[in-house]
Amino acid sequence: MVNNEILDKVERCVQNQNTWRETKTINLIASENHISRTAEKFSISDFSHRYAEGLVNQREYQGQKYQDEIEEIAITSVKNLFRSKYADVRCPTATIANISIYYGLCKSGNIMFSLSVPNGAHISMRKFGGAGLRGLKIYDIPFDFDNYTIDMDLFGNLILGLKPRIITLGASVFLFPHPVQEIKKICEDLETIIHYDGSHVLGLIAGGEFQDPLREGADILMGSTHKTFPGPQGAIICTNNREILSHVEKGIFPGTVSNHHLHRLPPLAITCEEMVEFGEEYAQQIVKNAKAFARYLYLKGFDVIGKKIGYTKSHQIVINLSEHGKGLKNAISLEHADIITNKNLIHGDEVNSVKDPSGLRLGVQEMTRFGMKEEDFGVVADFFERVIINDESPSRVREDVNEFRSKYLKIFYSFD
Ligand SMILES: Cc1ncc(COP(=O)(O)O)c(C=O)c1O
Repeated sequence: MVNNEILDKVERCVQNQNTWRETKTINLIASENHISRTAEKFSISDFSHRYAEGLVNQREYQGQKYQDEIEEIAITSVKNLFRSKYADVRCPTATIANISIYYGLCKSGNIMFSLSVPNGAHISMRKFGGAGLRGLKIYDIPFDFDNYTIDMDLFGNLILGLKPRIITLGASVFLFPHPVQEIKKICEDLETIIHYDGSHVLGLIAGGEFQDPLREGADILMGSTHKTFPGPQGAIICTNNREILSHVEKGIFPGTVSNHHLHRLPPLAITCEEMVEFGEEYAQQIVKNAKAFARYLYLKGFDVIGKKIGYTKSHQIVINLSEHGKGLKNAISLEHADIITNKNLIHGDEVNSVKDPSGLRLGVQEMTRFGMKEEDFGVVADFFERVIINDESPSRVREDVNEFRSKYLKIFYSFD
């Protein structure tokens, strides 16, 4: 046995991470999930040591026969699941996918629309992220806070007046579907590309919940493969338009990606097949759990966003904690109780209050995958009440959290 202090520390750190996050904590980060043990088994392979620049059967290096095969399998699985004519699986992250789309389809100075960050945008669709890197002129999509979606009364005229090159729909705070069909209709005589960033809701879309962007009129559906879609970290891009695909392909390579992290592809294909088998049931349970959790929190006295319109149709719930010390303090207290959440800007916050915004964003997808049902989120809401409203010591609550979590260790909706 090798005696090396760093090796020992690394081993201990990995074990600690696995034990803590996989068996002790209730994870409510809306952008995370856990792949199945079956998919995990195929995550470590020689593919992680290789390059495969270019497209399948059109590579730059030799040694690609199995790399071409696995990428073709993954592309086929993605196309089947999302019912798209074309798919690209090479972007290692959704940020890179967005940059590739802007790079491939837009020119510097083009007009684009996306939501503002306090209304839910991801930074990759804004000035200080990928869209800004491409030099796009970015306008805010008007937001209807009462219905927690896009304000079409205002947006329609803005589209017709400014004739944008691209409209990015989708969000990181994404409670209710976006009006893709209505926007498509307005864009009918324009050369505007409708780009739907489904990073958060990709697993719901695959399972037939939330909305169906490609059928509703989006030209591109892209998103992370590790949020509600319970696969390896990475991204996919789907379209039914050959011309759009070929521009985006160039945006990816030679544009923004060289090594595309091939070890993602076997678990990606397996997760797609799991979603074909179990996706419908999984997505339905996520939405049922999110609604139930929101209601339990509301009944405890929390200010849950969207209370007049059913709280949510996705995996997310947002609570406004401005009466309870705001987001940061409470996210830290909950972490001491082994409940993992993130502070979040909410509608009405200044964009520069990002370090201590008013809200917490919660996602039920990972705990759903570990088997929790509606009534279990009643127990989770009790923990929230004890930590945030009753000011109980988080370390006391933690004992009960750990005990509760120990009953949910198997991964459901999978081939395990
Ligand atoms: C809407 C949206 N798009 C893009 C991203 C970026 O994803 P990634 O972390 O894979 O770059 C996120 C991340 O949370 C997101 O919420």
